[in-house]
Amino acid sequence: MLILSIDTSCDETSVAVTDGRKILSNEIYSQILIHKKWGGVVPSLAKRAHEERIGWVIEEALKNVGNRHACSLQNINYLAVTYGPGLAVALEVGIAKAKEMAEKYHKKIIPVNHMEGHIYSCFAQNRNGNPKIEFNFPYLALLVSGGHTELVIFKDHVNYQILGETIDDAAGEALDKAAKMLGLGYPGGPVIERLAKLGNPHYHEFPRPLIRSKNLNFSFSGLKTSFFYYIKNLKEEERVINLNNLASSYQEAVFDSLLNKLELAIKQTGIKNILAAGGVLANLSLRRKIRQLVNKHKGKVLFPPFKTLYGDNAAMIGIAAYYKAKKGIFVKDVERLDRLPRLCL
Ligand code: KG4
Ligand code: ZN
Repeated sequence: MLILSIDTSCDETSVAVTDGRKILSNEIYSQILIHKKWGGVVPSLAKRAHEERIGWVIEEALKNVGNRHACSLQNINYLAVTYGPGLAVALEVGIAKAKEMAEKYHKKIIPVNHMEGHIYSCFAQNRNGNPKIEFNFPYLALLVSGGHTELVIFKDHVNYQILGETIDDAAGEALDKAAKMLGLGYPGGPVIERLAKLGNPHYHEFPRPLIRSKNLNFSFSGLKTSFFYYIKNLKEEERVINLNNLASSYQEAVFDSLLNKLELAIKQTGIKNILAAGGVLANLSLRRKIRQLVNKHKGKVLFPPFKTLYGDNAAMIGIAAYYKAKKGIFVKDVERLDRLPRLCL
């Protein structure tokens, strides 16, 4: 089943062609260079960049399907599009394009929640069908991105239950904001990771909000505020000398909060099949810590198998769409296709 999928939820214009779980092409046009100088994503610029690139990215995705045979829209069985959550003006570009193609080529549209895309990213395969992972429900999914931090039970295909989510900032956002405070640019996660490797994670013990509460929600805004006042009270030269230590102990606090709730969720649900996905999982140290925790509980963990699947991409949307199509989930009225933020069906 060939699916052409689109994700324009934030600052990546991405289009993919997938066949079941197999990724045939996954084009990702990043807008980082456009937003970098503003220290974060500027909605109006994101919208314009998506509009300018979407047609071209679709062509590239189709062209790169086979070694020799360019795939055409006529050969595509279904279209899939991210309908939320994300930046409204950005999402609308992808949705409008999907509607336009659906009408022109008489195709059905499969609507996909961005976070269910991140969940399915763990099951992606290359065009040869590797890695050969079998589904083994239920899973506990930890989703950590720039806009979301969630713990979800993935009960069966297209069947989710949210156990907890952030009550304020997302973990990626917390990393981005700290990097901005230190003048390190955008996005902050990768820079913090690089510096943190060279620093002492126990240089300063930043707070771990909600760590003692028995619910599975996250909170990062108190930590961010505490970081702000801590560096404000440091002399400029102290800050410069301790840049690695600051990055390392802040990152440690963010990751501790994630791990603490993941462990609590394992204990509360008894589920030991773990999935962890989203942009922040690109961080090697976080993946190592999660692996250690899951091993301690004698469980198994899956991460996205390829590097390009951590951040936003359309292939993960296409894979989720495949399982939705098998259940007959299509947009009934294209004109009414709208943004819908929650991951529950
Ligand atoms: O999933 P994603 O690409 O977009 C959203 O759906 O939000 O996640 C982006 C987030 C950003 O906050 C970025 O700083 C973070 O992922 N990130 C990282 C790393 N690479 C990207 N965080 C920590 N370490 C990294 N290596
Ligand atoms: Zn994302």
